[in-house]
Amino acid sequence: MISDPEALKNNLPRVFIKTFGCQMNKLDTELSISSLVKKGYSFAEDENDADVILLNTCSVRDKAEHKVYSQLGSLRDQKEKNPALILGVLGCMAQNEGDRIFKRMPHVDLVCGTRMFSRLPELLGEISGNNRQILAIDEDGEVNFDRLVTQRQNQHNAFVSIMRGCDNYCSYCIVPYVRGREFSRSVTDIVDEVKKLADDGCKEITLLGQNVNSYGKGLKGKVTLASLLRELDPIDGIERVRFVTSHPKDMTKEIIESVGELSTVCEYLHMPVQSGSDKILKKMRRQYSSAHYKGLVDMAKSMVPGIKIASDFIVGFPGETEEDFEDTVRLFHDVRFQNSFIFKYSPRTGTAATELIDSVDEEIKKRRNHILLDLQKKISTEENRKMHGKFVEVMVEGGSKTNAGRLSGRTRQNQIVVFNLPEGTKQADVSASLSGKLVNIEIEDSTDLTLFGVLRDSPFNKMTH
Ligand code: 5AD
Ligand code: SF4
Repeated sequence: MISDPEALKNNLPRVFIKTFGCQMNKLDTELSISSLVKKGYSFAEDENDADVILLNTCSVRDKAEHKVYSQLGSLRDQKEKNPALILGVLGCMAQNEGDRIFKRMPHVDLVCGTRMFSRLPELLGEISGNNRQILAIDEDGEVNFDRLVTQRQNQHNAFVSIMRGCDNYCSYCIVPYVRGREFSRSVTDIVDEVKKLADDGCKEITLLGQNVNSYGKGLKGKVTLASLLRELDPIDGIERVRFVTSHPKDMTKEIIESVGELSTVCEYLHMPVQSGSDKILKKMRRQYSSAHYKGLVDMAKSMVPGIKIASDFIVGFPGETEEDFEDTVRLFHDVRFQNSFIFKYSPRTGTAATELIDSVDEEIKKRRNHILLDLQKKISTEENRKMHGKFVEVMVEGGSKTNAGRLSGRTRQNQIVVFNLPEGTKQADVSASLSGKLVNIEIEDSTDLTLFGVLRDSPFNKMTH
């Protein structure tokens, strides 16, 4: 079954990793790939050509775990046909479910938790040699941030982990249990990694952490997210810096100031509020009020012209009444979010909220979910219309998937822009030369999710002259 010549030479199986869930998981997949590449493993483009299939999983909502169980169920046939195939579950669900995965899915060979990624080569080696199941979910495992900068999904942008874990214990959330205590990486390590990424052609970085606003806790000296942003701003080659996710309770004036002052830092905050009701926020243990959140948004909007705010929401949290939900709708109207991720509450075993009765009917959760989705669509459509006739700086990502005559990219505020090329040019001709470049686009049309425009003479980039 080993078909790749490199793998044959090393006598190592070919690996396929499928990632579920958040950006943190995508980065963990890159770290896993790095540790496997260092030991000579190669990768299959398609799971059907793989000797090892690894699912890097999410457990934030029940649905995410169901999805993985059903995927594992459908891999059973493949395993029966090819008993040498190694099947592994990695990440949050591995940590959360542990050996329950082996009980429900006996054809799985490896369960590898959130702090064990760097041991993957060794664990896979043990399985191939001994044909036995391995459970590796040690809570004291050391996270290794060491990455090969060349092993990443996209040439011009990259995620950089600045902290891991979470100490907040919001009452609905499983993350602190599966990802462990908060831990900040040193400034030197982060700066070194960003410099290496810049040398490898990376133009945009997104700093990642469960709560990046508390970055620096536990490090020597006065290290904060704002001071880190100031260290990263002058690095040659890096044109844009983003950071996610921001917890409102740890947002500071200093962070907002650095967004306004530093030329690389993009005018965009992903700052989940979760609910507009103070009663619900308290039950969620979020440690701020709706008024405090609005104060932060007002401060950001007044100090950083054009800043856009995105948020997550949970509808149907235990005890959420119509009035509580109306508070959330009011906050929506006040803030006019650029985009929102809206979730129906899903009880997670072991979290504090499971002590509360999951009192809101599924039908009501669905209705509230739809109301917010529709409201967000209306706000986004209106806000995007205001952009017609304006010029925006876009970092080009590549050819538009839906139209061969167009390219696409993102604004500093993280909006997707699809643009036409000047007459007579072909996508294939310009895509390679413009990818990763900043261009000036005049916006002519839009939907709720996309801005459409035309490439104009660019003050940002001489390439387009
Ligand atoms: N139920 C529903 N949504 C949840 N989230 C976290 N835990 C739950 C849960 N138990 C949402 C929050 C968080 C996002 C990543 O997932 O909105 O910000
Ligand atoms: Fe979960 Fe709250 Fe931590 Fe975010 S801040 S990861 S919602 S516990």
